[in-house]
Amino acid sequence: MSSRARNPRFAKQPAEASQRFTASVGFDWRLLPYDIEGSLAHTRMLVHQGILTQAEGDLLQAGLERIREKWQGGNLTLRVDWEDVHMNVEGRLYEEIGPVAGKLHTARSRNDQVALDMHLYLRDVGHRMDGGVAQLLCVLLDRAEVDLDVIIPGYTHLQAAQPVLLAHHWLAYVAMLERDRERLHDWQRRLDRSPLGAGALAGTPYPTDPSYTAQLLGFTDVYGNSLDAVSDRDFAVEWLAWAAILGMHLSRLGEELVLWSSQEFGYIRMDDAYATGSSMMPQKKNPDVAELMRGKSGRLIGHLVGLLTVIKGLPLAYHSDLQEDKEAVFDVVDTLDALLPVAAGMLQTLTVRREIIKARLGSDFSAATDLADLLVKAGMPFREAHHRVGQLVAKLEAEGRGFGQLSAQEVNEYLPGLEPANVAGLSPEALVEARRQPLGTAPEAVRNQIRKARERLSASTGE
Ligand code: ARG
Repeated sequence: MSSRARNPRFAKQPAEASQRFTASVGFDWRLLPYDIEGSLAHTRMLVHQGILTQAEGDLLQAGLERIREKWQGGNLTLRVDWEDVHMNVEGRLYEEIGPVAGKLHTARSRNDQVALDMHLYLRDVGHRMDGGVAQLLCVLLDRAEVDLDVIIPGYTHLQAAQPVLLAHHWLAYVAMLERDRERLHDWQRRLDRSPLGAGALAGTPYPTDPSYTAQLLGFTDVYGNSLDAVSDRDFAVEWLAWAAILGMHLSRLGEELVLWSSQEFGYIRMDDAYATGSSMMPQKKNPDVAELMRGKSGRLIGHLVGLLTVIKGLPLAYHSDLQEDKEAVFDVVDTLDALLPVAAGMLQTLTVRREIIKARLGSDFSAATDLADLLVKAGMPFREAHHRVGQLVAKLEAEGRGFGQLSAQEVNEYLPGLEPANVAGLSPEALVEARRQPLGTAPEAVRNQIRKARERLSASTGE
């Protein structure tokens, strides 16, 4: 009997359309190395527990190793009529070692097998993504250091509000990505649990030792409930949620870079290696990488909503619906594998246009709050000071002037109790310098924030 003889339960072969529709090997092939890793551990456990003989175990191991070599050498073709990656491995195992191959599936179901494969796959992915985000953090911290002396208008409501260091702005993204890494590590702890041993749903009557298999595979824990083990996809949902949040952060950054590279802002220029032209308008240089950094968040968020929707109505335990986790998970992996390095490259190579930023700062009213604070210091209630400065801004704006161009007489009239020197002292540098709390934008505070973030990064990456 081969693995492919159809179960006599069925009187007919499957319809081709049905076979094509239900097959997952077109995408779950990625699990092949993990499927083999899981099967090797499962086989060792079966021998360890006396469920298979040593000779049977050795044969299975040798066959699985040969399949792995063929796969690595690009010499393994997968068959759609064999449905999924698990059946493909088993089918090839028959070809390698004959009928003993049929013993591999003892005390195991594809339901716990596929859950295990996904855990192993995502464990690798988690490590890789952690490295990718750490790399991006490193680039942002380098930028913060290089741009430490650049002051930009800080915004609320996209209206110039108060000046901040550009480094301080980059560090806000550092904070987001640090939280992303924390979330990743938190998820990795929950992922560190083997579902193998659950069988189809109820456990198995063989004297298996799920914790032995788990230990062989480097898991610290085993699922505590077999129904949960085969129907849980929280680990995949959490992966998608993690990526959706990271994607949302990168999308916000992408949007800033798109805005900042526009003629209207002009704060940055993208390196030619990270920009593209228009096929029609010869003058155009488009920030495509930043745009797609923003745009890719759509699919990241979409996959999260998609999988939640697939799972939300499923009674226990396994259903084929759960096979839908894979394309979402894999697409998100591919998206981030492409996005993280290109985002790092773009950020590393962009040019900050200091002169333009400086000119913009001189012409806005971002000293207004500090001017009101000076009036308060001179004894005026804050609300009145707020009102007076507002009135002054309206007048100056209408005349196309700034605080710097106030005459001594105007200072006297609009800002009672202040001297022209007080007003002149409200340079962007002074405003920034005055905000010295540890979370503030003063250069000393920002330098400390950079140092601490670097310490956290090297402590967490072991570098
Ligand atoms: N390809 C399936 C999946 O990805 C494997 C599990 C199939 N189990 C089953 N009872 N049909 O979910």
